[in-house]
Amino acid sequence: MSDADPRHAVKTAFTERYGTAPTHLVRAPGRVNLIGEHTDYNDGFVLPMAIGRAVWIALKPAEGAIVRIHSNDFDADGEFDLEQVRTSGPASAGEGWLEYLKGTAWALMDAGHKLRGWEGVVGGDVPIGAGLSSSAALEMATARAFAEVSGLSWDPTAMAKLGQRAENAWVGVNCGIMDQMISASGRAGHAMLLDCRNLAPEHVRMPTDASLVVLDTGTRRGLVDSAYNERRNQCQAVAEHLGVTALREVTATALIVAASQLDGTALRRARHVVTENQRTVEAASVLATGNTRRMGELMDASHISLREDFEVSSDALDSMVTSARRQPGCFGARMTGAGFGGCAIALVDADAAESLARDTCAGYRHETGNEPTAYICVATAGAAAVTD
Ligand code: GLA
Repeated sequence: MSDADPRHAVKTAFTERYGTAPTHLVRAPGRVNLIGEHTDYNDGFVLPMAIGRAVWIALKPAEGAIVRIHSNDFDADGEFDLEQVRTSGPASAGEGWLEYLKGTAWALMDAGHKLRGWEGVVGGDVPIGAGLSSSAALEMATARAFAEVSGLSWDPTAMAKLGQRAENAWVGVNCGIMDQMISASGRAGHAMLLDCRNLAPEHVRMPTDASLVVLDTGTRRGLVDSAYNERRNQCQAVAEHLGVTALREVTATALIVAASQLDGTALRRARHVVTENQRTVEAASVLATGNTRRMGELMDASHISLREDFEVSSDALDSMVTSARRQPGCFGARMTGAGFGGCAIALVDADAAESLARDTCAGYRHETGNEPTAYICVATAGAAAVTD
């Protein structure tokens, strides 16, 4: 990260580079998922919240079809020709941060949008690879930048789907829709219950007497993509075996009846998805009534299910979650995101948040020797053009 305040940093770097102030400034947030993990690609329910950490782009329209961009975080320059991206498609995809911009441009053009070129500076403070959706934030910031200079209307759901398409087809990561949806359409002060089958978001007010603490284990796992795809395939195989299009359609009772036909792994994967969907729907209703104690219990149960049945936690995540739960004022804690490393979250009594973050990290550091970081989050709005 290049500057404590990425918004200021992209504006300053833009002015230094281009000798003029940017005409547009856009922001798209990272996210935490409160509950509903590995359910989105099973057509199930998720309950994420957009966070204060975000990707920012300062830009101005340019003549012609060229996009020129400097990345503050990678201290690198990139450039691409929209016409070339449109005609070559994902076949010309490479590696690195610029591919997220190219892929998003391609998805927008492939959906029929006419894009204009621009010059800009990108930067952010969503840690990369930490499970806080820096990729979705970059895709949604890029979409927002194109929307501004090309005069496209901002339909958050349509834009989220195009961001997911960029990630699936261009970047080559087979993610679900959750991250792009929350980055595109989050609401300040609210989490978002999303039914991933119809993509109709329901905004759920966050209780004001509780805080959400993000606990970064400092660990990153290189093999997330292959393990993620393996889980997706396992879920799909169980769904096919049970004669449904997605595990979302399987009830807890139906799963008990079908249990004897499934091998141990298949049953555990399916049991996670079925019970996680139930927990997520309940979580949205208890959160709305401010029942933070029950919300915490559901988060704890989610973590156990991810650890035992879905097997996507790690020693570091387990240690962080255990350390958080030991602290006074902790309602519940769990890993967040795809797993195998990255961040845990804890829902805590607002008055205890600072000390809980400090003491959780101390316990975790002592037990693992890893260097953690913690931040207290508030729910922010989704991708937007910012004036000033
Ligand atoms: C990643 C993916 C999401 C979702 C989560 C797990 O963040 O991008 O689509 O599947 O993992 O819940």
